[in-house]
Amino acid sequence: MKRKYRDFAGFRKKTCSERRALIADLCKLSTAELQTLGTEGPLTDLAEVMVEHALGMVPVPLGLAAGFIIDNEAVIVPMATEEASVIAAASYAARIIARGGGMRTWTEDPLMEGQVFIEDLEEREAEALRAAFPRLESLLAAELTSMKERGGGLRRLDLSRIDGAHMNRLSMTVDVRDAMGANLLNTLCEKAAGWIRSKFGFTVIMAILSNEARDRRAGASFSVPAAAFSRIPGTVSPPEEAARRIVRAGEAAVWDRGRAITANKGIMNGISALALATGNDTRAIEAAAHAYAARDGRYAGLARYTLHDGVLSGRIELPLPLASVGGSVGFSEAAAVSLKILGNPASRRLSAIAAALGLAQNFAALLALTGPGIQAGHMRLHAKKAAYTAAARRGEAH
Ligand code: MEV
Repeated sequence: MKRKYRDFAGFRKKTCSERRALIADLCKLSTAELQTLGTEGPLTDLAEVMVEHALGMVPVPLGLAAGFIIDNEAVIVPMATEEASVIAAASYAARIIARGGGMRTWTEDPLMEGQVFIEDLEEREAEALRAAFPRLESLLAAELTSMKERGGGLRRLDLSRIDGAHMNRLSMTVDVRDAMGANLLNTLCEKAAGWIRSKFGFTVIMAILSNEARDRRAGASFSVPAAAFSRIPGTVSPPEEAARRIVRAGEAAVWDRGRAITANKGIMNGISALALATGNDTRAIEAAAHAYAARDGRYAGLARYTLHDGVLSGRIELPLPLASVGGSVGFSEAAAVSLKILGNPASRRLSAIAAALGLAQNFAALLALTGPGIQAGHMRLHAKKAAYTAAARRGEAH
């Protein structure tokens, strides 16, 4: 029977429990089906405070990638992902890379930008606004007291023209330390927008942070003798040829857009899984990564490889706005546990780990793709899932 608009009336005002009863009734869900979204209790309570119209939780497996050495420290990386093989691949690559001493990483200051879009200013109006920047800075300072105490704060104000849109953009660059920065930047932007409207009477179209995060980059690199992966079944020989093919596969992603998208998807298999495990905003991180991949006007792979004297080197750098406090990072207890497993890193260390994980993920993919392929491993996992489904049908999955 076709559902009617009024069937869902008052949905917003219902408790999670009432909503579950309504949906079970409307959609003919059995108690067992409803309970796949979690039994009512702490998890549904958490869902209720984290999102609107909560019904329950969708289980995403959490696993640990092992074998990483990052800046001379052993690291075990929590990853939340629904995709088979990803965690095994990262761990496998990490162990090979460890034979060459592991990953080296670097990070930039955690700078984020807020943007206020203003309708077409004449040059003298733009000058008047620029001249008032010191006043704007003092106004924003009130929101930045605790960030300043932590070493962060406003770094730059800038007014530029967006010719195509006939607009001006006020940009504010803020060092957000361990936070993702969205809440802070949005507050600052809206405060600035209100001030511009009231003091100057300009038309402000909107005010919001930018997810570009171009200055908040993290990178990782490794070098490993080709001999370190020459004994992998299915790898071509001699070892230099195996390494040469990895370099060539990397070049395919630099020059071919279709391949670049797949390679970067593989990199994000790792980074997004770490982001999700730690309660970070996966979409913000993905948007920044893909925009960076196209920064030269052409979408390209994010990882690069070279081979010199039998030593293969890999490198990656991209914006990684991962927070270690604030938002849902500090809120969900599961995310807090993942951060604890990581040793409660600061935002920059977490971003460095994400870079290392992304590079390991790409290296693992290239090892498989230029060697035995990825299907053999996938098929083993498919068989495991098929056995689980069959057992579940017979009611013996537990
Ligand atoms: C699959 O999720 C990811 C890969 O396609 C990545 C790649 O091709 O580099 C294996």
